[in-house]
Amino acid sequence: MQIKGQVAVVTGAASGLGRATVQRLAEQGAHVAAIDLAGAPLDALAKELKLLAIGGDVSSATDMEAAFAQVRTALGTPRILVNCAGVLGPARVFRTDKATGRVMPRELDVFRRVIEINLVGTFNTIRLFAQGLSGETAVDGEDRGVIVNTASVAAYEALSAQTAYGSSKAGVASMTLPLARELARFGIRVMALAPGTFETGMYEVVPAHTRRTLIDDVPFPPRPGRPEEFAHMVQALIENGMMNGSVVRIDGAVRMREPTAPREGRPAS
Ligand SMILES: NC(=O)c1ccc[n+]([C@@H]2O[C@H](COP(=O)([O-])OP(=O)(O)OC[C@H]3O[C@@H](n4cnc5c(N)ncnc54)[C@H](O)[C@@H]3O)[C@@H](O)[C@H]2O)c1
Repeated sequence: MQIKGQVAVVTGAASGLGRATVQRLAEQGAHVAAIDLAGAPLDALAKELKLLAIGGDVSSATDMEAAFAQVRTALGTPRILVNCAGVLGPARVFRTDKATGRVMPRELDVFRRVIEINLVGTFNTIRLFAQGLSGETAVDGEDRGVIVNTASVAAYEALSAQTAYGSSKAGVASMTLPLARELARFGIRVMALAPGTFETGMYEVVPAHTRRTLIDDVPFPPRPGRPEEFAHMVQALIENGMMNGSVVRIDGAVRMREPTAPREGRPAS
């Protein structure tokens, strides 16, 4: 699909990978609707790139229904959807109560929130995006729509504090093929990117020793990924008509392993 002139929706657009994707698609001539939580710093970006900024929670049906209605009215039918909204959300099975030192079972809401945003939120925008193209008949294998979701290498080798995050991303990875199969009749391709470690707001909150291990383990290039490299790959997936139904790792060949040190004082998170 040619990007120029298309209407594109990007979630998690205010920061990191989503922000770089917004910039890239706008530079390529797309009319971009940038969605992020209300209050997220989207305004400056929207002004600079002349795009439509929409505040909303991807896990809310009503927020996203309103957002997609707004996109259609303001820009037209979106044919590109890039889902980048996501949260890390630590969720070990146990936590240590600070006051008593007792080991407590994790509150269920912490786990649920990560699944709601990363997995349910991704499905939420996909259903509304696809609905907009469902009245069309695909002609001669012509691209009518492209969806790129953001999984993670944590879908395959999540660390011990990433039970919720890893399972949410495994869900995002696993939905790729069934979605590509279901939406083929509308001419919609569906893919996911599985990034390794990228330099974004999310990476900043990872404890320093874990960050070191993550980067030390990257065979080449020995550094975190740059958001522009992710956005470049999104562009390639959109433009290459044979790409469909796959989860593509973009990770410098890293295979994450559990950091082993320092053990003492390791946050129970
Ligand atoms: N940075 C990495 O190393 C890395 C690695 C693998 C996967 N990812 C994934 O990439 C995606 C982008 O992450 P990032 O690294 O750019 O992080 P980031 O924190 O910089 O950006 C995430 C954005 O999502 C938004 N967001 C969070 N919850 C939302 C919600 N409910 N509704 C709407 N927007 C919401 C945030 O406000 C933020 O702007 C995420 O899905 C993340 O899991 C990141």
